[in-house]
Amino acid sequence: MNKNKLINKILFKGKPHLISVEQYSKETIEELFKIADIMQPIAKRKKISRILEGAILANLFFEASTRTRISFGAAFCRLGGSVCDTTGFSFSSFIKGESIYDTSRVISGYADIIVVRHPIKGSAEKFANSSTIPIINAGDGDGEHPTQALIDLYTIKKEFLRINKKIDGMHIVITGDLKNGRTVHSLVKLLSLYKNIKFTFISPIHLEMPDNIITLISKNNNIVNQINNFNEKLENIEIIYCTRIQSERFTDKSLNTQYTSEFQINKNLVNKICQPNTLIMHPLPRDSRLGSNDLSTDLNFDQRLTIFKQTDNGIPIRMAIFAIFLKIENFIKNSMKDLKWK
Ligand code: NCD
Repeated sequence: MNKNKLINKILFKGKPHLISVEQYSKETIEELFKIADIMQPIAKRKKISRILEGAILANLFFEASTRTRISFGAAFCRLGGSVCDTTGFSFSSFIKGESIYDTSRVISGYADIIVVRHPIKGSAEKFANSSTIPIINAGDGDGEHPTQALIDLYTIKKEFLRINKKIDGMHIVITGDLKNGRTVHSLVKLLSLYKNIKFTFISPIHLEMPDNIITLISKNNNIVNQINNFNEKLENIEIIYCTRIQSERFTDKSLNTQYTSEFQINKNLVNKICQPNTLIMHPLPRDSRLGSNDLSTDLNFDQRLTIFKQTDNGIPIRMAIFAIFLKIENFIKNSMKDLKWK
């Protein structure tokens, strides 16, 4: 086994799966981002590659998704591979009582890599238990969403380079459903690898960041400040990261009403508490229905809105992840050709 190969530095329990961001270090993140940079001409449709010709991705989504499912599929196709997928429980054999163990082993015989989203925390790891091919966690209930966090961090690094800022010592405000939002569980774990970060978490009491995550990220001199409103003076905010209320995970539906309009990130609030170059981020989807109090559309033309840079970066990062797990990252550059149709 070549210990220097990136895949061997990010194994999950000794096997090539991506289940949690805890598999990454600052160094392996940098290696991943370099591969993502190499992918940019393909992602931007300036070059094409057929390096994954003959490979099959099984895209298994048992929960709602638009960007994650499509971007994983598009990333695989742009590298020349093919995608087979299944969506929802009702058309899968789970509805007939099949176990994750059997499903995962069966699909391993058909495909070369599996991307899976499932509503139960820990389910991606269960897929990994019987799979003979790599499993990529695309969201396991209120657990983790490692690839989204890697996309967010890649976006932050790129934007900070542009505005000459550093991750060490930054102040990030994270709002919304911090209890159930898996994207922020993964993101804060990744950010805690850096030092002197000030995390301000703002949510109603019943939607606070879980204690075990607070303990995990309170290292490297990082400070965590948990509040339940916007009354406190917030200063020098580098990033404001909003999340959707995950009402589909609530057993008590009345909790929904506790996310009142005072929590909404909108033009008024941003102009009051943010700086001219604060990044406004969200993993999307944002709930644009009246009364949802999610990130407001009145910020759509604000230069600080970074949400579509995040979504665009989904392609190079997911391509890089496929390249690493299918061990072709050193062959990408030579595989690139000019495209003829554009
Ligand atoms: C998120 C998810 O599914 O966890 N979306 C995403 O994948 N970018 C966020 C959400 O559903 O609120």
